[in-house]
Amino acid sequence: MNRIVYVNGEYVPEAEAKVSVFDRGFLFADGVYEVTPVVNGKLVDYDPHMERLDRSLKELKMAWPCNIVAMTAMHNELIKRNNLTEGIIYMQVTRGVADRQFNFPKDIISSLVAFPQVMKLVDNPNARTGVKVVTTPDIRWLRRDIKSIMLLAPVLGKEEAYQKGAAEGWMVEDGFVTEGTSSNAYIVIGDKIITRPLSNRILAGCTRRALFRLAKEHGVGIEERLFTPEEAYAADEAFLSSASQFVMPITEIDGHRIGGGQPGPVVRKLREIFLEEAQS
Ligand code: PDD
Repeated sequence: MNRIVYVNGEYVPEAEAKVSVFDRGFLFADGVYEVTPVVNGKLVDYDPHMERLDRSLKELKMAWPCNIVAMTAMHNELIKRNNLTEGIIYMQVTRGVADRQFNFPKDIISSLVAFPQVMKLVDNPNARTGVKVVTTPDIRWLRRDIKSIMLLAPVLGKEEAYQKGAAEGWMVEDGFVTEGTSSNAYIVIGDKIITRPLSNRILAGCTRRALFRLAKEHGVGIEERLFTPEEAYAADEAFLSSASQFVMPITEIDGHRIGGGQPGPVVRKLREIFLEEAQS
């Protein structure tokens, strides 16, 4: 790869993209991030991602690294300089660079880095077959509503899933599914979508938000409530959502085939209407 990466005001080849070892993101995971999809060279659902960034920053009492106009220009400039037609822009803000101390250093300036990643979002072959999921204990902290770069628990959960031949881990807490290691979790019973309500226990997905709107527009019912892995095993359909997977059918959970092992009609319809909007 020879990407152009944004580092604190400059666009540099990736080999030259460097940050300080004193960056608090590196030392404490003291930072937040966003992943925004790009389809046909255009940002998808950009405003909700920026709203969530604003909220994450406020919750951590961290300053914006630049204003929203500059942030948007930077995203679009990365797309242009990298000729990105389809994939994601990863953007990370950290509290900045200072001598190592736990409490917030005074007068610190936030750091901003961002880079593109080419991905097949629309024509993702997994969407045709569906993916496997395994459950794993949710060992994360209790501020999962903040899109923090502190991702060791999801890293371990995803690796466990991969080791077991699955594409995602559904995390379980007090007997109920919270969410995927990097996605929101849904089951379908009849023609109704069931997903966990927003709280500090899950991330408020931007794809989730778009899906709620689209489901309402298309008359698909949504019930926000907790569900157990056992309820999921017996569900008609299951799926996950994220900026990099969009709407992804799940055809197996912990070895239990879901909906006969094929992506079902509700998830296929949701993916189709989501893609239609993303490509428009
Ligand atoms: N992850 N829940 C968790 C824990 C996530 O990490 C993500 C996204 C989501 C879905 O949010 P959205 O629809 O806004 O992408 C839910 C991103 C894609 C990542 O870390 O790569």
